[in-house]
Amino acid sequence: MRFDIITVLPGLLESPFAHSILQRAQKKGIAEIHVHNLRDYSANKHKNVDDYPYGGGSGMVMMIEPFAACIDKLKAERHYDEIIFMTPDGVTLNQGIANQLSTLQNVIILCGHYKGIDQRIRDLFVTRELSIGDYVLSGGELPAAIVVDAVVRLIPGVLSDETSALSDSFQGDLLDAPLYTRPADWNGHRVPDILLSGNTPEIEKWRFDQAMERTKQRRPDLLE
Ligand code: ADE
Repeated sequence: MRFDIITVLPGLLESPFAHSILQRAQKKGIAEIHVHNLRDYSANKHKNVDDYPYGGGSGMVMMIEPFAACIDKLKAERHYDEIIFMTPDGVTLNQGIANQLSTLQNVIILCGHYKGIDQRIRDLFVTRELSIGDYVLSGGELPAAIVVDAVVRLIPGVLSDETSALSDSFQGDLLDAPLYTRPADWNGHRVPDILLSGNTPEIEKWRFDQAMERTKQRRPDLLE
């Protein structure tokens, strides 16, 4: 799967993709992540990518031309399944959307900044608008990194133990059961005996009951 992320702050996206699972997915050739500097597509001699809003008001608005130039160049090279715009007024990302996106080949993600982007970019190019939650961040870069992370780890072959993505919280509508590792006794705080029993069917049942209880307590909406 290939991601092309268009941003005015490419430096903000260097670290999130250079570690752990995302780094491994790229090394294995399962995911390609390309970050494009929007300023490289500005025709303006000062490399401006924003301008004052028509009708007045505070804040700057990102212009259509640089986005259009970058998107047109990418589209001339390959077909894109989705062009996603990260925005707090988009549909809230969830595991189901991440699953859907993980089946795609090529995706462009647009990161907004300043007050927002010219509505015509949204009308003419964008196929999906995603939010990562009901709060406002200073730009779409961190939300884009979250989408890429949530999606890439679901692509077959990325996680070494493929079942571990399936047992994640949310994947089967239940939160995860509690996890423990050594030592079995830390200052008198013991790991539940069942987990040391070696009785796999009983352990599975315990995990399911714990997951159900945790979901009832914390996210009853998931059980509706
Ligand atoms: N840009 C700014 N805030 C955002 C959010 N909550 N989700 C997606 N993009 C954003």
